[in-house]
Amino acid sequence: MPGRCLVVGSVNTDIVLVVPRFAAPGETLLATGMSVIGGGKGANQAVAAARLGAHVALIAAIGNDLFSEHRYNELEREGINLRFLARVTGLGGLALIERNAEGENRIVVAAGANAALDGESVRRAMRELELCSQDVVVTQLEIPLPAVEAALSMARETGARRVLNATPWSDVALELLHSCDVLVVNALKARQAAGVGSEEPIELVATRLVEHVPIVVVTLGGEGAVLVTKHERLQCRAPHVPVVDTTAAGDAFTAALAVSLLEGESWEGTLVRAVWAGALTVQRPGAQPSLPFRSELEQAIAAHPLVTERW
Ligand code: RIB
Repeated sequence: MPGRCLVVGSVNTDIVLVVPRFAAPGETLLATGMSVIGGGKGANQAVAAARLGAHVALIAAIGNDLFSEHRYNELEREGINLRFLARVTGLGGLALIERNAEGENRIVVAAGANAALDGESVRRAMRELELCSQDVVVTQLEIPLPAVEAALSMARETGARRVLNATPWSDVALELLHSCDVLVVNALKARQAAGVGSEEPIELVATRLVEHVPIVVVTLGGEGAVLVTKHERLQCRAPHVPVVDTTAAGDAFTAALAVSLLEGESWEGTLVRAVWAGALTVQRPGAQPSLPFRSELEQAIAAHPLVTERW
């Protein structure tokens, strides 16, 4: 029986405004559409992993407002173990998302209840979960640093594999590189982490980072992704798909990678699944509504198998 996927991360309500273009400073623009939906990098990754077939638990903090109530009910319906979801007084996390006609977004996040997730509650919850080496712990940087550090250090003690999706990027991520087994990061941040400029080929950037982290995965948006270990260097090009909304594509990618780790998938298979999970997500609007189910992912891979190249 495969292990469990434990996500330690944020829960947000996404307020999405569809705009013809991004507003200039001082300008008032009329949106052409709006929606209020489940988001937050932690919750998105938990939902994506559950839809891809993993047993998922989420350690997070939500508020006592109506939005948080909706988030709780949605996550429960996804079959996620919410025993360690803290409820704090006040508003839950909020993300204000503008999405333009090209499917690009601009996101501002207010932490709300996410800011209350502390290291000690993460440690306590992880002790109770009795993790083991078959489990995978996934975390991101949308919660306070002590919570991320606790997740990674407790995971190391139990032997669980540690996936850090270093987003939203901050330089504190540099101190966490030695504490994770897998780093998932986009090209811009990978260059920042490696301390190199935009002229450095991304393959070299990933190779440099592997001196600090055993497995480095750099996402390249519509170009696909590269995965580098001490022994393997793989690249997978993304399929050409119509882009409606890129929100949560990185979350679907990270979750597919974590589920593949749980299932002992090869690195080639892992990269293909992760790239396709992202490519399915961008074809639909919103964060959680756009995350693919396992059957869709399998159908997409069967219909359009992607090729991984070694370099
Ligand atoms: O990764 C996408 C997510 O980033 C959105 O759902 C939003 O809540 C922000 O956390």
